[in-house]
Amino acid sequence: MKLTLNIWRQSNGQAKGKFETYILEDLDSHMSVPEMLDHLNDKLIKNRKDPVAFDSDCREGICGQCGFVINGHVQSPEEHATTCQTHLRSFKDGDVLYLEPFRAKAFPIKKDLCVDRTAFDRIIAKGGYISVNTGQAPEANGILIGHEEAEKAFDAASCIGCGACVAACKNASAALFTSAKISHLSMLPQGKIEAKKRAVAMVEQMDKEGFGACSFTEACEAVCPQSISISNIVTMNREFWKSR
Ligand code: SF4
Ligand code: FES
Repeated sequence: MKLTLNIWRQSNGQAKGKFETYILEDLDSHMSVPEMLDHLNDKLIKNRKDPVAFDSDCREGICGQCGFVINGHVQSPEEHATTCQTHLRSFKDGDVLYLEPFRAKAFPIKKDLCVDRTAFDRIIAKGGYISVNTGQAPEANGILIGHEEAEKAFDAASCIGCGACVAACKNASAALFTSAKISHLSMLPQGKIEAKKRAVAMVEQMDKEGFGACSFTEACEAVCPQSISISNIVTMNREFWKSR
């Protein structure tokens, strides 16, 4: 199949970027979007041109590394999909695509389609863990946790840190990501002990990183590949205000 790719090229964070056009006529509809870029990069390298920089690792929707904007869709035109889970069969032969990086002040562009998401790491470093001594592995039924609570905690814990929620938000808010990390721990007995301290430290770091405020548009939930619920933001706000 044939696709015309308009790809954002920017040599570094300070340089001025622009779209450059590439026409690929020998694509297979079963290729994923990263495989399409691999194919383009093979050609660019053969012609001694600079390959397109983009992130990816697992290519199975697990690691959250890939992700850019395709024709205005954060990550993918498919619902709740990562970029690596998007295949060329999602497009029509002859389509014109625009690929550009996530746009958010707290995610500065590194090169081409790559952005720096280490702001997320710094939020996690402020409390996305349990530091109390939990001792030896307890007997499985020693601490009973209700099924509903366990399921909710597990759902929140499935956030892959991709940053699509930030890119989709008009305020570039990281509330969905931060709340998922706060609430999955606050729902479980071992995590409850530090819940208030954790919420304050992580929310303060989120604000310090320059993410915007949440205005509950639900744009984040709509694009999240893990379908993380915005009810986690309510939990985060409750934990935060309880500590004040
Ligand atoms: S909340 Fe969803 S969109 Fe945001 S980082 Fe986690 S998995 Fe990605
Ligand atoms: S490369 Fe791991 S989620 Fe896409």
